Amino acid sequence: MGKEIINIGLLGCGNVGSGVVNILSNNGAEIEGKIKTSLKIKKVLVRSLDKERPAGLEGVQLVTDAQEIITDPDIQIVVEVIGGVDRAKEFIKGALKNGKYVVTANKDLLAQHGRELFQLAQENGVSIFYEASVGGGIPIIRPLKHCLAANKILKIMGIINGTTNYILTQMTTLEMSYADALKEAQEKGFAEQDPSSDVLGKDAAYKLAILASLAFNASIEMDSIYTEGIDKVTLRDIRYAEELGYKLKLLAIGDREEEGIVLRVHPTLIPQNHPLAAVNYEFNAIFFEGDAVGEIMLYGRGAGQMPTGSAVVADIIEVARLINHQVDSDIMEVEFAPKPIKPLSSYKSKFYLRLKAIDQPGVFANLSSIFGEEKVSLDMIIQKRKVEDTAEIVLVTHHIVEENFFKAIEKIEALPAIKEISQIIRVENKE
Ligand SMILES: NC(=O)c1ccc[n+]([C@@H]2O[C@H](COP(=O)([O-])OP(=O)(O)OC[C@H]3O[C@@H](n4cnc5c(N)ncnc54)[C@H](OP(=O)(O)O)[C@@H]3O)[C@@H](O)[C@H]2O)c1
Repeated sequence: MGKEIINIGLLGCGNVGSGVVNILSNNGAEIEGKIKTSLKIKKVLVRSLDKERPAGLEGVQLVTDAQEIITDPDIQIVVEVIGGVDRAKEFIKGALKNGKYVVTANKDLLAQHGRELFQLAQENGVSIFYEASVGGGIPIIRPLKHCLAANKILKIMGIINGTTNYILTQMTTLEMSYADALKEAQEKGFAEQDPSSDVLGKDAAYKLAILASLAFNASIEMDSIYTEGIDKVTLRDIRYAEELGYKLKLLAIGDREEEGIVLRVHPTLIPQNHPLAAVNYEFNAIFFEGDAVGEIMLYGRGAGQMPTGSAVVADIIEVARLINHQVDSDIMEVEFAPKPIKPLSSYKSKFYLRLKAIDQPGVFANLSSIFGEEKVSLDMIIQKRKVEDTAEIVLVTHHIVEENFFKAIEKIEALPAIKEISQIIRVENKE
């Protein structure tokens, strides 16, 4: 027989915290039926005691000192949903040292300090669960750890930032500029007032670090992930991409190559018939390729109060089962060791390039000869428009070594007839 009641200490009652309160309050009886234990929020940490709080917190003690939760002997599970790195880390360490299981949605913290925290959890005979940290409500951590465990994962490729996907979808469908789409996303609450972590690709890079560590059994340093955001994407490129049969998405990609893992987050052109091309607005999707299972895609809401709350509560239920069955959780994350990282410069990519040149004879010949010197082969080259004496040229390469491509770009930039290199975007397309 398990415990009749398991007490939870909730650190934070904002967006996600309120979702957790809501789900436990609405579905508590259903959950109790499944695990034969009542999950009870005993205390909630907030900054302000005066703010209005969600229904379902009647009789629950609100506190402003985390120690009241971390050191409470009746609390078995501490749920961290305050966000940020330093305070959250301090609170989680305190909880683990006091023998509490921890559930968190905090990707920034896990991507940067996960190793230390998993180690501490193991030393204290408890564990950390983090299903909500990547893909919000989409089950992804547990499928990777358990359901796909038989596979050697060869590739991960995902749309794992809802804010940028929303902005790119609005640009594509409504012909909005990047600035207007960002402004609209902020007004609708899909983007924060300081959107830099999302639009510069950092949020997706944190999530990729978490996914790649599980997929490739590796400890991942953030500086091994090439990161480029969507802030330089223009409507013109989205239109040209469409003409060429592509859609533009911010993708997080991890590839297992013989020489090492390649990790990158960048705007990417994908064929319009790729399943990820149909993932629009704030939705997320993660595509895996396993050597046994083949290709798999998980799709759903990557953020939001209730979807994220759903993943957090699922973790709480898993912990409750562990506690009830007195099973030690196996912390595979402490075994992750550094793996060779293959630099992007030696990886073979396909590129879209847009440039402006003076419209005069010989420009194409000059471009071709530079590409030839640097072993860059072209898939297509088109002259798009001519305004006065300037022509816009768009070209797509075959898969070529990145270093060679950028050497060619340096030489092209130095040609007197070239006015500007306007855009470079990687293309993900098997040839
Ligand atoms: N929002 C999403 O859809 C989503 C999706 C996936 C993951 N996450 C992750 O979930 C976490 C929480 O996100 P959120 O959107 O729920 O944040 P949020 O709405 O800003 O809520 C944060 C909560 O934590 C409390 N808090 C913050 N710092 C505190 C401190 N130092 N001491 C005490 N209380 C503190 C705040 O108290 P007050 O209420 O008094 O201000 C608030 O209740 C983050 O790690 C985020 O990355 C969020």
